[in-house]
This record gives sequence, C-alpha cells and structure tokens, in this order.
Amino acid sequence: MMIYSITPPHRLRGIIDLPGDKSISHRAILLNAVAAGSAEITNFLTGADCLSTIACVQALGVHIERQGTTVRVDGAGLRGLREPIDVLDCGNSGTTLRLLTGMIAGQEGMFAVLTGDSSLRSRPQQRIVAPLRALGASLDGRQQGNCAPLAVRGAHLHGGAYELPIASAQVKSALLLAALFGDAPLTLTGRTDGRDHTERMLAAMGVAITVDTPVIRLTPPAHSDALRPLSLRAPGDPSSAAFWWVAAAIHPDAELTTTGVCLNPTRTGALDALRAMGAQIEVTNQRIEGSEPVGDVTVRSSQLRGITIEGALIPRLIDELPVLALAAACAEGETIIRDAQELRVKETDRIATAASGLTALGATVEPTSDGMVISGGARLRGTLLDSHGDHRLAMTWAIAGLVASGETMLHGAGAVDVSYPEFWSVLARVAER
Ligand code: S3P
Repeated sequence: MMIYSITPPHRLRGIIDLPGDKSISHRAILLNAVAAGSAEITNFLTGADCLSTIACVQALGVHIERQGTTVRVDGAGLRGLREPIDVLDCGNSGTTLRLLTGMIAGQEGMFAVLTGDSSLRSRPQQRIVAPLRALGASLDGRQQGNCAPLAVRGAHLHGGAYELPIASAQVKSALLLAALFGDAPLTLTGRTDGRDHTERMLAAMGVAITVDTPVIRLTPPAHSDALRPLSLRAPGDPSSAAFWWVAAAIHPDAELTTTGVCLNPTRTGALDALRAMGAQIEVTNQRIEGSEPVGDVTVRSSQLRGITIEGALIPRLIDELPVLALAAACAEGETIIRDAQELRVKETDRIATAASGLTALGATVEPTSDGMVISGGARLRGTLLDSHGDHRLAMTWAIAGLVASGETMLHGAGAVDVSYPEFWSVLARVAER
C-alpha cells in the first residue's frame, strides 16, 4: 500500500494541462470499436479504468494500438466483435462493465462474462440488467443478476420505451449501446439528465439519435457498417480539474489554471457550486473541440460560504461531491448536500467514507441517507486518512493536506492511478515550498 505524506505549501501556483476526460475516453474506445474504419484518439486518459476498457475491447477481437495518450482503434463494425475466450475484467470501472454489457447484449449468440475488482463486484447492476432484459437481453449474475460477475448471452434485441428512474449516464449509455442492435427504435424518458457524451458521439458518428429533453430516441442503423469512425482529442476532465479548483479556492495563497477543460453543461456543476460558494473563478478561451465545449479555468484563493447542493445540480457534479464537501468544511456557515443517494453506490459509499475522513480532520459533518450536512469553519488538522481504494477520496485527502495543519498521511495513495496517474507529480509541481 502506498502511503503519502502531505504538508501545507506556502503557495499554489501553476498551469495544469489536464488528462483526457474519463467518460469520453471510455466512449471513444467503445463506440469506435463498432465503427466501420479506423479512428485516432489523442489526449486519451491512461488511467487504469480506461486501460480496462481497451483490454476488454481487444479481447472482443478489436485491433487497438496505444502509444502514450494516442490510441488508434480499428473498428470491427456493428456485428464484427468476436466472442472473448476468457472472462472480461473491468477492474474498478463501472463505466466499462455497464456500457460493455449493453454492447454485448445485442451480439447474437456471443457468450461473455464480465467482472471486476471487489468494489465493482459489490455495486448494483440491476439498474442495467432489468431494462436490458426488457429489450430481450439474456443476462444473469450473482444475486439474481444484481452483481458481477455478469454472464451475457447475446440475443436478438427489440426496441421499446424505458423511463429512467435514476439520473445515471451509465444506465442511459448501456441502453443506447444495446439499442444500436435492436429491431426497432428505443425511446428513453425520465432521468435522462446524466452526462450526454454518448448521445453527442453517436450523433457525430451518423447514428439517428434525437434529443428533445427529456426524451431521447435512437433508431437502430440498417447496416453493420453504419457508424463512421470518430477521431477526437479527449478534452480535459472536469472531474480531475475540480481537485485543483478546490485546492486553489481553500488555500490562502493560490492561483491555479486548468487548461482545455470539458465545459459540457452536464459536467459543470462543480463550477456552478463553487461560484455560488463565492469562489473566484475565471473561464477564458472558450471554444468547441470536436463534439464538446472546452475552456481554461483559473481559480484563486477565496472566502467560501456554505450553500445547499441538491436536485438537478447533483448529476452535474456527482463525482466532485467528496472534494466539494472538503470545500464546504473550509467555508463559513453550513452546507447541505441532499438528493445524492447515488454516492452510496460509487467506488465506495462516498457519504460514509467522505464524512468519516472529514470528521477525522476535525470538521463537523453529519451524514444523512442522501447526503450530508457540513458545518464549515473548523480548522482542519492533519491526521492519518485512508482512500479505501477510492481514487476520488485519495485526491480529496491529498487536497485536504494542502490546508490542514501539520502532516496528513494518506494510506492507499496509489488509488489515484484509476483516473489521474499524474496527480502526485502535478501536486509536487504546483505546491511551492
Ligand atoms: C459515468 C457516469 C457516472 C459517474 C461515473 C462515470 C459515465 O456514473 O459517476 O464516474 O462515464 O457514464 P452513473 O452513471 O452511475 O451516475
């Protein structure tokens, strides 16, 4: 287990080129795997999660070559995937498991088993299994199909309608990928407000998909070679940038600029929340890259105040809530986080793990069933913290160590490799001592 020690630096200064967005990196591999032709992805995220996606797609017979952050995918067409000869290991990655299950569900006759690490095997899969079965998929798994390993027997899929009960982009995307193989259109309604990268990329690849919020309708392509390959540069990951935004906002002498951040409105909730807390934020150089809006974001030392984070904002910042809870602990006044029960089924139960770590640092935090109440203003003291193998917690505790007095020791620091392998080297560069 890697243990890191963090102490507060005098200043935080720097310009940070972000790693590619995790959600977009996964989708660029998965969608191009079934395109008719080759695509090149640059600024690909080389975190362990996205490498799991590459390995699984290679096991399905797709030729993929990676050199650093540049990846070439030779698409096999919609019906060109090969039955894997072994279990598909999705590691820690829920996106890999759920989206791939959707894609394999329509590969008629193919048998595949998908599994992952102990965290992934404990996460709920009924949310994809039930609606995929309703489309005709043949799926099973532990606990009546709720937990991986999941076994999939590719089947003839139908179209239909499904009302999404939770705002999960993984569920939405699993269904859209399955719908590519259906014999009739699929209409999604309900909580379709999760991140919309799948919809944007499918449209750019020539798939007949319409979005009339909240209704999404996909008509399956008529031919196996219908998807145009989509070359792209993955924009910077806002979920990784958020650690630097919070670091700059809570440190007394800081100015950090993150460049080329994905500013897709389904992903910018953390910026909105930090602005509402009074953070000094400047967004410059806004432009469109491929299918996504991007820009540079600079954050300076700020006096933060508590807010309520709830409702439609939650899916727009779900992965940033642990580090936003840290920001709240450093703010004046009370912050209430509610409607975030999804945090309980992430890589860890992030309501429990974030609340207990913040409490250990000296903050006053009360976990609730769907969020937490944080009384700001406490002086944080360095202590021994644990990532519990959760990448976003590891980085949250590292940022806490930049402002907590004394030494913050982090157990399980290597978890950052899941989504941000360069995190520690960037931290060492921007922390001026
Ligand atoms: C993701 C969707 C979100 C997010 C996860 C990545 C995606 O999960 O938390 O880190 O790439 O679709 P849910 O779909 O479970 O909300």
